[in-house]
Amino acid sequence: MERYTNMPHIVRSLPRTDTDEAADSLLEGRLMTTSLSAAPRLLPRLDTSEERTPRHTLVGDSAAMRQLLATVEKVGPKDVTVLVTGETGTGKELVASLLHSASSRVGRPLVRVNCGAIPRDLAEAELFGYVRGAFTGALQPRRGFFGAADTGTLVLDEVEALPLEAQAKLLRAVQQGEVQTVGADYARKVNVRLIACSNTDLRAEAKAGRFRQDLYYRLAVVGVAVPPLRERADDIPLLAAHFANLYARRFGAGPVRFAAGVLEALQSRPWPGNVRELENAVASMVALSDGGELALAQELREGDEEESSSARDGPDFRARVKAFERALLLEALAANGNNRSGAARQLGLSRTTLLGLLQRHGLDAGAKTVGAAPGGAKVVP
Ligand SMILES: Nc1ncnc2c1ncn2[C@@H]1O[C@H](COP(=O)(O)OP(=O)(O)OP(=O)(O)O)[C@@H](O)[C@H]1O
Ligand SMILES: [Mg+2]
Repeated sequence: MERYTNMPHIVRSLPRTDTDEAADSLLEGRLMTTSLSAAPRLLPRLDTSEERTPRHTLVGDSAAMRQLLATVEKVGPKDVTVLVTGETGTGKELVASLLHSASSRVGRPLVRVNCGAIPRDLAEAELFGYVRGAFTGALQPRRGFFGAADTGTLVLDEVEALPLEAQAKLLRAVQQGEVQTVGADYARKVNVRLIACSNTDLRAEAKAGRFRQDLYYRLAVVGVAVPPLRERADDIPLLAAHFANLYARRFGAGPVRFAAGVLEALQSRPWPGNVRELENAVASMVALSDGGELALAQELREGDEEESSSARDGPDFRARVKAFERALLLEALAANGNNRSGAARQLGLSRTTLLGLLQRHGLDAGAKTVGAAPGGAKVVP
């Protein structure tokens, strides 16, 4: 538990606020009990590496994170293929590396490949390797990612991006444990545990024919869904403290503390970029801090009002309220022959308020024009 020695600095110097419960939970070590590092029996390696541990600790105390942790502990040691899904930045790669650390393959290679970043026509060569002269430019043979991960774990990130032909070869690798090196006329055995990650609904992709269905079932033997941060806002103070600690140490800063109200502000944001976005925000706060006090970055303050209110209310809710308001205005105008005073009376509004609303909905000019029409039939917005 050495590596946490400076965590209490952050926590103790936090101002007492309504969110002190979060701070207290850190002091009580709830964070540690919910981090994988608290399970040295299962994950001996996580408990010994000072450098690796902070980045390889799953921080969170929400029910969702506890469940995720339980799944990782259960599934990690079994040599089973796992499909990790979740929005961008939720921690899929972290989960994949924890699965590896919890397995008997720990200490063996952990190779991560971003399938989305491989040029389509090179996918097979990159994954399965190639012999010299297999194609123009293949001057030296390469063993590919499968070869590099032999005896260890291969994490296929953005697996949905693999071209269909490469998917067929991947299926064979999963089913038969052998790969066909590009340009070679023989297959070779590989011993690799696969973990696939995706931020798409891979089952839907398979249904739509964009991903091989047989491969989908082979990859998703066990599915692990990492929930978005907005669905576990309880974890935000814990994560913020964790990252503050991490970056204070990395940037060589002394003890840091959050200014009053910052944790609440962080908790009320929707975080479309999830944990990665929160991590970057806190890193920037540490880098810009004055005397160890962490204040909300300017861009977060500016974005706050707009972003968090639309996330709280939901764009749909706001749009529907606006549409309803507009419909009421139109109805009242129509019923009163476009007489604004009559419409205001009917709606129980002052004339000034009504005029303001008409203006906001762009109905002021229309009302005037139509108001001149006999019978006030139709108000055209
Ligand atoms: N629960 C967590 N505790 C601590 N750190 C976390 C947690 N979840 C994510 N992180 C950190 O957030 C960052 C983003 O996580 P990661 O790269 O695993 O996300 P991802 O889901 O793979 O994203 P993408 O879909 O964009 O590839 C990493 O630095 C990771 O260590
Ligand atoms: Mg990732």
